[in-house]
Amino acid sequence: MAQAKTYDIDTIRRDFPILHQQVHNQPLIYLDNAATTQKPKPVIDKVNEIYSLKNSNIHRGVHYLSTQLTEAYEEAREKVREFINAGNTHEIIFTGGTTHSINAIAYSFGEKYVQAGDEIIIAELEHHANIVPWQVLCERKDARLKVIPINDRGEIIMEAYEKMISGKTKIVAINHISNTLGTINDVKKIINLAHKQDIPVLVDGAQSVQHQTIDVQELDCDFFAFSGHKIYGPNGTGVLYGKEKWLEDLPPYQTGGEMIHKVSFEHTTYTSPPLKFEAGTSNYVGAIGMAEALKYLQKIGLDEIAAHEKGLLDYATSRLEEIPGLTIYGTASKKISVISFLIENIHHYDTGMVLDKMGIAVRTGHHCTEPLMNHFNVEGTVRCSFAMYNTKDEIDHLYRALIKVNEMFG
Ligand code: ALA
Repeated sequence: MAQAKTYDIDTIRRDFPILHQQVHNQPLIYLDNAATTQKPKPVIDKVNEIYSLKNSNIHRGVHYLSTQLTEAYEEAREKVREFINAGNTHEIIFTGGTTHSINAIAYSFGEKYVQAGDEIIIAELEHHANIVPWQVLCERKDARLKVIPINDRGEIIMEAYEKMISGKTKIVAINHISNTLGTINDVKKIINLAHKQDIPVLVDGAQSVQHQTIDVQELDCDFFAFSGHKIYGPNGTGVLYGKEKWLEDLPPYQTGGEMIHKVSFEHTTYTSPPLKFEAGTSNYVGAIGMAEALKYLQKIGLDEIAAHEKGLLDYATSRLEEIPGLTIYGTASKKISVISFLIENIHHYDTGMVLDKMGIAVRTGHHCTEPLMNHFNVEGTVRCSFAMYNTKDEIDHLYRALIKVNEMFG
């Protein structure tokens, strides 16, 4: 039997140099992890090592540096494949992030398959990155965007979704986990229902890969998108997974560079996936750095991280519920470690500003989910989001800081 890994929070925290500093003369408490996660030393060291010793453009040179780094880049692709259990490395495309990945499919799939009168299904709790690209496609093609409603706990109403699917539906694009509410959507069920009618599904995994093990073959999603910077990797990196049959079939969404097979002034043919979808010089340093982040996560253990974060979520929820006048938005039965809240009559910016002065970083505003804010009839919320390196002690600080906020404005 595999030995359970021990979760050594002190060692983990030591791996993240940024955490050990003062902000406004207070120890930094970083609770804005759904916006971006901090980077462990192995990731920082890898990026530094490449720029110090190994930098060279990939897939373009016969010389030593280029061939070495091309190999490292393709190893990074293999690491991503293994991490999400894709069947083939050529199903893994490196992009600039989740938004980039979704835009790529909205354009490419939309060009080929969406016509006037067709429908695309998303849900009410999407991030703007999984709304606007589809909206733009609908405008371009005179198609319709259909939106699955949620209940007041922030959960998708599955019966409404079932009724929405029809012969007109061309694709379903759904977030795995809500960045604002933390709701874990039952994407497996959403995919199964769509597949019964041969409708492909794109899963926006920006908020899921860092919190739970992803198996794209088990999910059977057609596309899966995520960002490197939210999974402890470098900024400006991301992944688009696509089933082989789609990547072979769909047209490229950007052209130029190494995505060609043959170019003449009369005609150009394209190479095979994944390079077909990686026009131009990619962020190869970032991709290799991201693979380092995945190795780091595996070393700590995805299950161990999930258990730690669940402990933080439960503890923070119970502490925040003690605060007079505080309302939590998003009370789904299945949630990750994100809590959106407001304290009665206190503007979210005011709360955020006061917390900042106490060294606590949270996100305030609409969190790029304006339609979701409309559902709850609020302009914005305060959001704290916990990661593998956060502690209950930090949550106690947050609690005490919120009591102060209440005293100041309440
Ligand atoms: N999508 C990121 C967030 O939720 C930026 O904060």
